[in-house]
Amino acid sequence: MLKYGYTVFDEDMNMKELNLTATDSRSVILIEEGLLHRLPELVRNLFPLSKVLIVTDENVEKLYGKSVYESLARSGIPCVKKVLPFGERTKSFEYLNIILDCLGENGFTRSDAVMALGGGVIGDLSGFAAALWQRGMKLIQAPTTLLAQIDSSIGGKTAIDTKWGKNTIGAFKQPDLVCIDPQVLTTLSKTDFSAGMAEMIKYACIRDKEMFRILKTHSDNIFPHLSELILQACKIKKEVVEEDCFDTGLRMILNFGHTVAHVLEGLNDFEGLPHGYAVALGMIDITKRSEALGCTLSGTADQIQKLCDAYGLPTEMPAVDKRAAVSFLLRDKKARSGQMNLVLLKEIGSCFIKKMDVGDAIQFLGWEEK
Ligand code: GLY
Repeated sequence: MLKYGYTVFDEDMNMKELNLTATDSRSVILIEEGLLHRLPELVRNLFPLSKVLIVTDENVEKLYGKSVYESLARSGIPCVKKVLPFGERTKSFEYLNIILDCLGENGFTRSDAVMALGGGVIGDLSGFAAALWQRGMKLIQAPTTLLAQIDSSIGGKTAIDTKWGKNTIGAFKQPDLVCIDPQVLTTLSKTDFSAGMAEMIKYACIRDKEMFRILKTHSDNIFPHLSELILQACKIKKEVVEEDCFDTGLRMILNFGHTVAHVLEGLNDFEGLPHGYAVALGMIDITKRSEALGCTLSGTADQIQKLCDAYGLPTEMPAVDKRAAVSFLLRDKKARSGQMNLVLLKEIGSCFIKKMDVGDAIQFLGWEEK
């Protein structure tokens, strides 16, 4: 029997369940092939009295939005749907306002729910709206990209982008429920799939040597292993978030490869380079450098490079404009305080945080001007 505090489901050997206990809230994470079809049942059981606002984008609408809306409505669940444009530009004040207006116009209260059906943009934006409306309503994450399934839908980070940068305004808002359906990944583009695999490789690098081995052994056909790998990635994220919900310490290990990645994304106007591609390049680059410094077991960067290559990720670091790279690096508020935390590997499956003066970090990353 699956129990998650609210209700008990029929015995279901395929459904995997994790409970993430944060400081003041709890998230139930469910993983099952075909789980999107069970959304009406889950919503009825967990939130019997709630209305649901489904937020999705134009691409996901065509694939799943229409059917999710219809299945909820057919089950007698009062629901409204908002379809937004696809892309990072939607993570803005403008679309946040559109969602908040929609909640107001339809009489939503804090005991109702927002369902984010889509990738990271929809999840971050809808999550932020749910955190704000009447100081916080219920939130269901139904992630439809691999990256959202193993990273952005879990752990409660919500945000919008502003003229001051990516994710500059946001809130911690743990979702009440995360519904992960690995079947939806079959409709992902090659680029989106590879980009998600970069985050999967990241989890293996920082915490799980065996996961790295599985990724390596089955790189020619990873699909049969995907549900297990998603579960493993979610377990790692859950453990880290439970220890450091508000991102003041351990949680920064989830940013392995991200210091360089954020700079590369910035240099590409946050749109030219998929996040996962930048993370792959960042993990390889920083590991090469920490190997050279003697902090990482020799040969580690080569292993990461080969694995990224096997999953269609870029592995050759582009030439960067050093001055521009440093200016993006310094946007990080910790960097502005004079010190930075870099996540480095001891070896595959084990990482540590290295504190460095910003000047040393710039030199370490190869961006000092001679
Ligand atoms: N994506 C990193 C985190 O949730 O902390």
